[in-house]
Formats: sequence, structure tokens, C-alpha cells
Amino acid sequence: MISYKELGLSNTKEMFKHAMINGYAVPAYNFNNMEQLQAIISGCMESHSPLILQVSKGARKYANETLLRYMAQGAMEIIKSSNSKIPVALHLDHGDSYELCVSCIEHGFSSVMIDGSSLPFEENTALTKRVVEYAHGYDVTVEGELGVLSGIEDEVSHEKSHYTNPDDVEEFLEKTGVDSLAISIGTSHGAYKFKLKPGEEFPPLRFDILEEIEKRVPGFPIVLHGASSVLQEYVKMINENGGNLEGAVGVPEDQLRKAAKSAVCKINIDTDGRLVVTAIVRKIFNENPKEFDPRKYLGPAREELKKMIIRKNREVLGSADRY
Ligand code: G3H
Ligand code: 13P
Ligand code: ZN
Repeated sequence: MISYKELGLSNTKEMFKHAMINGYAVPAYNFNNMEQLQAIISGCMESHSPLILQVSKGARKYANETLLRYMAQGAMEIIKSSNSKIPVALHLDHGDSYELCVSCIEHGFSSVMIDGSSLPFEENTALTKRVVEYAHGYDVTVEGELGVLSGIEDEVSHEKSHYTNPDDVEEFLEKTGVDSLAISIGTSHGAYKFKLKPGEEFPPLRFDILEEIEKRVPGFPIVLHGASSVLQEYVKMINENGGNLEGAVGVPEDQLRKAAKSAVCKINIDTDGRLVVTAIVRKIFNENPKEFDPRKYLGPAREELKKMIIRKNREVLGSADRY
């Protein structure tokens, strides 16, 4: 057992309090490998933004749980030695069992999500409560979820989304003791968030549901999953260099900016990072088919990812220059 405190990590409690008071959202960026981790920490250090480093069950399997813990420890040593004061949480994204949450906490995670959103309300409540009881014993914060997003998350695919019912929220928070709540208001996971007909506008997020939830539980931190914008410059670059992501669209940035000013304290971004890396690697391979040194294509991809993160923090989430 290693406590996240020994690694210099923070849980999300103070981060969300600060974000709520100051009207911004903390970015939660997913990572699976070294280059992504480097880009995320340098992007957040350079923009002086708090950071939630997010790891899915699939990422944990891909990168190895022991290596991940040392990667996070290494990241914290880099941050400390550069005198950066940004708080960093290491968070399990879409935890699907009590056992997985326990294992992550034992490996130094400071925050976990238990995603019981596809279970009936009573079962979601019981599972989430059990995780909270364990996690709070170690001062680890817990994110729960009510409502279902469409798209694919960790190999589980949902055809249709079910918006969060504001009537369920108070009871869920009271019974579980969770520290934050992911809700469904029209976002979805992945690169194909909406099927738009030619000329059709992006359907607005259900801000009415968000406002109703804010009214019922004022000041409680809300989380937005599936919040990539599916940046069209990278979709275009992918399509121009041998890829095919026709029809890929995401959440417009002005809607995310609006959400970040509300009770939404955490915004999850994975797909946009994947698109940046894929676009740069494809472009380099297309322009230089003789290249075979991974540093020559992963290095530029890492640099572009860092730039994207700095811009998001500054222009979309409002998390830049906070620390
Ligand atoms: O919501 C899911 C995240 O984008 C993680 O995706 O399970 O493929 O690592 P993954
Ligand atoms: P995107 O697929 O929109 O990046 O969402 C990521 C996410 O919600 C991770 O939990
Ligand atoms: Zn998610």
C-alpha cells in the first residue's frame, strides 16, 4: 500500500472548492503512455493549471499498474523540482468494481470514479456507498455517476443516452456520500458525438438539467464526461493523410466554456488528445515514409499535444494561471 500523500498528489476536494468559487473547471486528461503524460504535465505546469491525471481500466492494463504508479511518482518529482505549485490528482476513470477502486487506492491513486450508471438506481447507490466508505478511510475522493452517456467507454457501449434525472440527485448524494457527480446532459464519449445532417447545427447541451441540479444541490461539484470538442483541424489532418474519420464531431467549445463557469468543476478530455497524436504521426509518416525513429514522430506529437492542452486550459476551461 502506498498513500498518494507520499507521492505528493492531492485529492480533488480543495481543487473543486477553488474551481467552484472562481468559476472554472479542472481539466481531467487521460493518459496511457509516457509521451501523453509528459505533454499533460508540461502543458499544465506552463499554463499554471490544476490537473487531474486520469487513468481508465484499459489504460491501467495497457501501461501496467506498477509502472503507472512510478510514472505518476516521476511526474510529481518533475513538478516539485521545477517549483511548480499546481495541485495534481491521480484519478481512476470509469472504475467498474469495488475491487478495482481498492486496488487503485492501494497503488497511490488520490481519487476514484465508481461508475454504476448502467445499474438500477438502488444497486448504483449501494456500490457507490461501499466504495466511498473504503476510499474516505484513506482520504481519497470519489466520483459517482447518474445518467448514461452514449458512446464507448472502456469497452462498454451504450447506443442511447439517458439524461440524469434531477429528482434522483439529492437521494444519491445523501445515501452515498460521494464527493462529485458525473451527469448526462447530452455529451457522449468518443469522436462521433452527434450525427449531423449537412448544414445541421450541433444540438445544445441540456443546460436546463444542469441548472435544475445546481438548484437542488447548490455548490456540489459536477463532472462532465465526453467533453472533447473533436477539433476539426486534427480530423482534417488525419483525413488528408490516409485516415478516415468522416463525420467526426464533438462538443462546441463555447458550450464547454459556459459549463465551466457553472457547477461543472471537472471536464474530461481524452478523444481530443488521441486525435492530436494520430494527426501528427500520420502527417509525418505521409511526408516522410522513410522515418522509423519513434522519437521523430512521437516527439512532435507530444509537442502538439502540449500546445493543445495549454490552449484548452486558457481558452475553454479557464483553469490557466490559477496556481
Ligand atoms: O471514457 C473513456 C475514456 O476515454 C477512456 O477510454 O477505456 O479506451 O482507455 P479507454
Ligand atoms: P471524450 O471521449 O469526449 O474525450 O471523453 C473522455 C471521457 O469522458 C473520459 O472519461
Ligand atoms: Zn468518461
